[in-house]
Amino acid sequence: MTRIVSGIQPTGQLHLGNYLGAIRNWVRMQDQFDGEKLFFLADLHAITVHNDPAALKANIREIAAALFAAGVDPAKATLFRQAAVPAHAELCWLLNGTARIGWLNRMTQFKEKSGKNREGASVGLFAYPVLQAADVLLYRATHVPVGEDQKQHLELARDIATKFNTDFATELFTLPEPIIPPAAARIMSLRDGSAKMSKSDPSDMSRVNLSDDPDAIAAKLRKAKTDPEPLPDDPAQLEGRPEARNLVAIYAALSDETQAQVLARFAGQGFGAFKPALAELVVETLRPIGTRLAELRRDPAELDRLLAHGAARAREIAAPTLAGAYAALGLD
Ligand code: TYM
Repeated sequence: MTRIVSGIQPTGQLHLGNYLGAIRNWVRMQDQFDGEKLFFLADLHAITVHNDPAALKANIREIAAALFAAGVDPAKATLFRQAAVPAHAELCWLLNGTARIGWLNRMTQFKEKSGKNREGASVGLFAYPVLQAADVLLYRATHVPVGEDQKQHLELARDIATKFNTDFATELFTLPEPIIPPAAARIMSLRDGSAKMSKSDPSDMSRVNLSDDPDAIAAKLRKAKTDPEPLPDDPAQLEGRPEARNLVAIYAALSDETQAQVLARFAGQGFGAFKPALAELVVETLRPIGTRLAELRRDPAELDRLLAHGAARAREIAAPTLAGAYAALGLD
């Protein structure tokens, strides 16, 4: 049976990279598959770097609202806060006995996030991928829709599941399959075609947020870094032009076309013509999301109710797997 599970950190603002890389796929898969769909705000992951408790609390509601606005439907899917389901933290601890330090040492996200100050990074930041493995293994997820940057973490989840199943002679855990959208696996910064679009980039001009108004979107795309060359007719000729390639990829993902189809329309034109067309497409895609987000923000009690309802459902689904993990370890 299909079980779709994915999460997002409730830090910063949701942006076009999150939307095209992950959330749009959550919504599409929620409508395509019959099995259980669980989406969560990874608030336990958010505390692995310095956090401001009041800001985190406010952001949890804001991101929940943005996810519902983007199409997560409480009638079809379960949306909840990770910390409201203690089984995530419990299973993480149980899996810490199986995960190997050598495996975690290879994680590129830890290397990026800890930077030069490895010794000063939190233990939580290092163990982050074990909690992520617990997130998906807890629900025996079969499909995990994510952007390219989460692929390595899911491979680790598969390694942990395989070793646990082998070591304790059980079939408790299912191996999760990452579902990565080919066209929008990695949306890049608007200011630097070699850096991914990210919530933590200090420059707000580097990303289009789902809550940006049309003027802000148009301004950000007008100022997006590009080169002076016109657009080619063949996607292969975007090689070596990372900023141009990123904007064409965003257009193609939004219009559900191939890059070749987009270029067939814009070949020979410069960015003076392409950027306004892209801005219009982004504005039209995000307009209904922004309208719905404004409505949802007005009713925080309803958001809290939906999240509490989701957590209750998630706790029920998680209980048998957690009990199975305790039992496999002789802790029942
Ligand atoms: P997070 O919060 O950084 O991002 C949420 C989702 O958005 C995708 N994404 C992107 N896709 C394309 N281009 C981009 N520039 C871009 N930036 C972000 C991410 O790949 C992700 O799918 N560790 C995770 C959260 C998490 C999780 C999980 C995900 C915790 N537990 C279990 C899946 C399953 C994270 O920090 O995602």
